[in-house]
Amino acid sequence: MEKRTIGRSGIQVSALGFGCWAIGGEWADTDGQPLGWGVVNDDESVRAIRRALDRGITFFDTADVYGTGHSEEILGRTLAGHRDEVVIATKWGNTFDPERRIKLDQDTSADYARRALTHSLRRLRTTHIDLYQLHLGDADAETGAALRDVCEGFVREGLIRAYAWSTDDPERAAVFAEGPNCAGVQHQLNVMEDAPEMLALCARENLASINRTPLAMGLLGGKYVAGQKARAGDIRSAPPAWLKYFDAEGRVTPEWAGRIDAVRQVLASGDRTLAQGALAWIWARSPHTIPIPGFRTVGQAEENALAMEHGPLTPAEFAEVEKLLNEG
Ligand SMILES: NC(=O)c1ccc[n+]([C@@H]2O[C@H](COP(=O)([O-])OP(=O)(O)OC[C@H]3O[C@@H](n4cnc5c(N)ncnc54)[C@H](OP(=O)(O)O)[C@@H]3O)[C@@H](O)[C@H]2O)c1
Repeated sequence: MEKRTIGRSGIQVSALGFGCWAIGGEWADTDGQPLGWGVVNDDESVRAIRRALDRGITFFDTADVYGTGHSEEILGRTLAGHRDEVVIATKWGNTFDPERRIKLDQDTSADYARRALTHSLRRLRTTHIDLYQLHLGDADAETGAALRDVCEGFVREGLIRAYAWSTDDPERAAVFAEGPNCAGVQHQLNVMEDAPEMLALCARENLASINRTPLAMGLLGGKYVAGQKARAGDIRSAPPAWLKYFDAEGRVTPEWAGRIDAVRQVLASGDRTLAQGALAWIWARSPHTIPIPGFRTVGQAEENALAMEHGPLTPAEFAEVEKLLNEG
């Protein structure tokens, strides 16, 4: 499949990126709410990243807070020796304690942005970040404008190449887009949850639409059924208010499972798996999209990377999915 471009930056990446939240391992907030995806095996994470590289993946998305620095460390260690072949996106804005693996608070100051960037560069073993992203989706527009200007300064210093806001609000994304080196927005998009206003903004402003939660936090991987409970220690087992797919007890809700059942056959047609079909829907949705599915195993890395060989849904398949979801 052809490559995609990170908006105005012109930086070319594989059409699929790899989301590195889960490989951060376990961490929590100050109340003990799990914020990771449970225990992960670092050796497996390293093997999975290597498999991704072998399969042509050149784009990796992480955040300083994932595993309170651990995700960046694993990525930095594994990509050492490949730095010129890959494009790295990370995020800042949350404060955390790596000793206790706890997320503490948020910090929107310019000083903190510089300190956070310095630490990310060290953990990622690099001299620059390709795409630096504000991780506070609900920060106010005024704060966003100030941090956009801070990012422009980082570009001038050669510390970052481009920047983006991770937010689901097109108005906030538009504030960042006023900066010449803003190249994208990271937002939620999957076959069950479209984002037409954000995609229109990306088309108008030439921004990459970097798609988090493309597999609906695992549901579109196909192994969860209605009522199934997520593992203890996994964020899905005790979901915060914003996490929709699992109920308060960590069980897959029948509503979301039903929506997947409605489109399963079309997505998983041909030689595609359900996960590959879900990624194919995103590519068909807009030429600006770059899905970044998370992964925990070599098998998932392999299956997701191979989705690029199938490419986007055909227009007929895309229309069929729309029809089925509308009927549902
Ligand atoms: N605020 C933000 O900026 C923000 C928020 C969310 C995510 N993100 C970014 O977006 C990335 C992706 O989103 P996400 O991790 O929330 O959700 P996702 O990509 O929708 O789901 C990822 C999960 O699905 C399962 N999975 C992956 N590939 C699979 C396959 N082929 N078959 C079956 N199951 C599979 C794995 O979990 P199990 O095997 O445990 O089910 C994996 O951890 C993150 O890693 C992160 O980089 C950013």
